[in-house]
Amino acid sequence: MRINLDTFEEVHSPMYVVEEAKLRRNLELIVSVATRADVEIILAFKAFALWKTFPIFKEYIRSTTASSLSEAKLAFEEFGSRAHTYSPAYTDDEIGEIALCSSHLTFNSLTQYVRFAAVAKHHNEQLSFGLRVNPEYSEVETDLYNPCAPGTRFGLSAERLPAILPAGIEGFHCHCHCESGSDVFARTLQHIESKFAKWFPALKWINFGGGHLMTRNDYDVELLINTLRSFKQRHPHLQIILEPGSAFAWQTGPLVAQVVDIVEDKGIKTAILNVSFTCHMPDCLEMPYQPTVRNAQSLALEAAINGGENNIYRLGGNSCLSGDFMGSWQFDHALNVGENVIFEDMIHYTTVKTNMFNGISHPSLAIASPLGELQILRTFGYEDYKSRMD
Ligand SMILES: Cc1ncc(COP(=O)(O)O)c(C=O)c1O
Repeated sequence: MRINLDTFEEVHSPMYVVEEAKLRRNLELIVSVATRADVEIILAFKAFALWKTFPIFKEYIRSTTASSLSEAKLAFEEFGSRAHTYSPAYTDDEIGEIALCSSHLTFNSLTQYVRFAAVAKHHNEQLSFGLRVNPEYSEVETDLYNPCAPGTRFGLSAERLPAILPAGIEGFHCHCHCESGSDVFARTLQHIESKFAKWFPALKWINFGGGHLMTRNDYDVELLINTLRSFKQRHPHLQIILEPGSAFAWQTGPLVAQVVDIVEDKGIKTAILNVSFTCHMPDCLEMPYQPTVRNAQSLALEAAINGGENNIYRLGGNSCLSGDFMGSWQFDHALNVGENVIFEDMIHYTTVKTNMFNGISHPSLAIASPLGELQILRTFGYEDYKSRMD
């Protein structure tokens, strides 16, 4: 089916639509950064793992990063390469298979390293081991996303590292960004180097984690490239890896929903949709942030009070959670049952995080070609809900 990518008027049920042209535009930019800066940039599955789109990714990048056994298996089976894996907690029953599916394995602590290094090597001799380090510097303001907040459970601070690293450690892994600019990376790098450079001669690689939002319009790509190049000049023996997730899927497509009902209370009109914020757009409530709705103006929550005559609505989810609504938005017409409401930029961290709370129907997953040819990747039904609880 061919659809109009401006209105999605041919779509009459909830659907995440990846737009191939936008995805390729991101991939092209990311590859150009990797080439010009002489670094490897890999996809973090935690942000995006729609594996039927991997053939497109494989035209541009070779590897991915995993944070669990399932992600590592997906890398091995569907991306066709072993994952760069980091988890804060490996366990006896999973470490063997994780090792088999990984090329790089980063440990969160020395106790995890001591406990699992030998058994991991036994399963995969080629594995390269790393340690997650904590530079104790992050400009991430939301605590929920700040891995360096005091008391963090992530990584070793410099004072906890032994002067001589355990013999098998070949890399450091450091993740302390979230939708950050390259200026933040440049400042953070000074802290990383001042704290950890004395161990660099013993290493082969360094992974600067995710959160580098290089595909955002106002991102200073040249600064990122220059920062990486000058780091490389100072430490030419280190292979540099970046593992963003959001940057790959940033602004690559919407969640298309439909209005199911309009209700009103105390002068507030709510358009109830066939999608849910808590089930299908969880970061809106967790972060929190108000998503952009196509052809609607975002207003403060209170704007919906007596705003009905000006076409101002809250948008409400179809779950029973009282807080499953957001608002307000002003439309240029009164909303009607059945019409589309298009939530922009709903691909990264949505499709990997959705849930089936209340048994609510899960939006289908689709990809649209540059000409608007729609391919449904997956639909969901009762069996998906039921089979999670067998
Ligand atoms: C260790 C690690 N690597 C990579 C990422 C991907 O970050 P982003 O999607 O913000 O680029 C995350 C996100 O939390 C992370 O924790």
